[in-house]
Amino acid sequence: MTTKITPSVFAVGVLNPALRVFDIVMKTEFGTTYNAYLVKGSEKTALIETCHETFFDQFVENLNEVCKPAAIDYIILNHTEPDHSGALRRLAEICPNATIVASQAGSIYLKGITNNSALKIQVAKDGDSISLGNMTLNFISAPFLHWPDSMFTWLPEEKVIFTCDFLGAHYCEPYVFDYNTVYPQKYEQGFKAYYDAIFAPFKQYVLAGLAKIEKLPIDFLCTSHGPVLTKDGRLSYAKENYATWSAASANAKKKIPIFYTSAYGNTGKIAQAIAKGVREILPDAEVDIYDIIETDMHFLHNELAECTGFAIGTPTINRDAVPPCWELLSHIDAIGCQKKPCLAFGSYGWSGEGVPNLITRLQSLKLKVVGGGLKINFVPTPEDLEIARQQGAALAAVIQ
Ligand code: FEO
Repeated sequence: MTTKITPSVFAVGVLNPALRVFDIVMKTEFGTTYNAYLVKGSEKTALIETCHETFFDQFVENLNEVCKPAAIDYIILNHTEPDHSGALRRLAEICPNATIVASQAGSIYLKGITNNSALKIQVAKDGDSISLGNMTLNFISAPFLHWPDSMFTWLPEEKVIFTCDFLGAHYCEPYVFDYNTVYPQKYEQGFKAYYDAIFAPFKQYVLAGLAKIEKLPIDFLCTSHGPVLTKDGRLSYAKENYATWSAASANAKKKIPIFYTSAYGNTGKIAQAIAKGVREILPDAEVDIYDIIETDMHFLHNELAECTGFAIGTPTINRDAVPPCWELLSHIDAIGCQKKPCLAFGSYGWSGEGVPNLITRLQSLKLKVVGGGLKINFVPTPEDLEIARQQGAALAAVIQ
C-alpha cells in the first residue's frame, strides 16, 4: 500500500510488524518499518531508499502502484545498511535506467553489499544536487548517522527532507503520518530505545546533523523507520529530544561505575575498596557499584556508554571471566569508548584467568586499561583491600 505525502512524494515502503530483534542485538518489541519514498518530478523520477531484501516482492508491488520500476531514473541511498539497501541488487535488474546515488563511503559499501561491479553509481557530495525537472534533490552530508556513509536529501520545492535512520524509530503501525499514531506512548518508547541503541554513541554527530537541518523550513521529515514526522506533529518533539539527549552528557558530573559479579562476595569487597579509592580522588564524581546480575542489562549498557571511566570485576570460573561480564562488554560502544580509562579486578580460587581475559578484551577494544589487573586469591585481606583502594585512586587520577 502506498500513501501520498505531498503532490510529488509517495511513501512506498513496507511494514515488518513481527520483527523482535534488529541487527542481532537490538530488541524491537514494536516491530519496524522499512520506509522508502518515490519522488515524481516533471522530468525525472527518484526512489529514496529501498528495503530489506526479504520484502522485495511486496516493495515492488508498492512501487508499481505509483510508477513502473523501469521509469525510475535515480535510486538514492542516504545510508547503505542492508535494511535499506538489501533489495537493491534485485531492484537494479528491474530498474535498468536508474542511476544509484550515494555518498562516497556509501558507493564503496554498495559494491560489497551487492557484489555487482556493473552498478551505475553516482557519488553525491555535500551540497550536490540533482534536478528532477520541477523538483530538486539536495544532498547534505551527515556522517555517522548512523554509518560513515549517511547523508540527508532535501526537497525544497515541497519542504520534505529524507533522513533515513536519523530521528527514526523501530515502531510499526500501518499509518504513515505521526498524527495518526494509535499508541503514542509506545512510539515514544520505541523512539528513545532507537536513539539509545543507534545514536547515543554518536552524540556530537547528532548535534551536527540537527544543526544542518535547523534552518530548513521542513514540513515533512521522512525517516526510514517509523512514522513520517510532520511540522505540526512530532517533528519538534523528535528534534528537541535528540538535542537534549545528545547534550546531556556534555555538562554532566564525572561518572565512574564499578561493575562486578561475585559468587561469594569477595569480588564485591574489592569493588567497594576500588570505589573508596575513586571517591577519595574525585569526591564529586558519581561512583555507583553495580552487581551485574542484579541490575537490568540495558541500564548497564547505558551506564557503560555514558561513563567517564569504569572498573569491571569478575571471579574466575572455568578458566575465564563469567558470562554476565562478557555480556556487558559485548554491548560496549567501541567507537565512543575508545581510550576510556578502565580497570579489571576479581577474586579467584585456582588459576585466575578471569581478570587477564577481561584485560585482553578491553585492550582489543582500544580502551585505556589502568594497571595490569587486580587479582586476589580467595578472600581479600586488609592489605589486598588497601591495594584495591590504591587502584581505584589510580583510575581516578587518570580521569581527573
Ligand atoms: Fe536502518 Fe542504520 O539502518
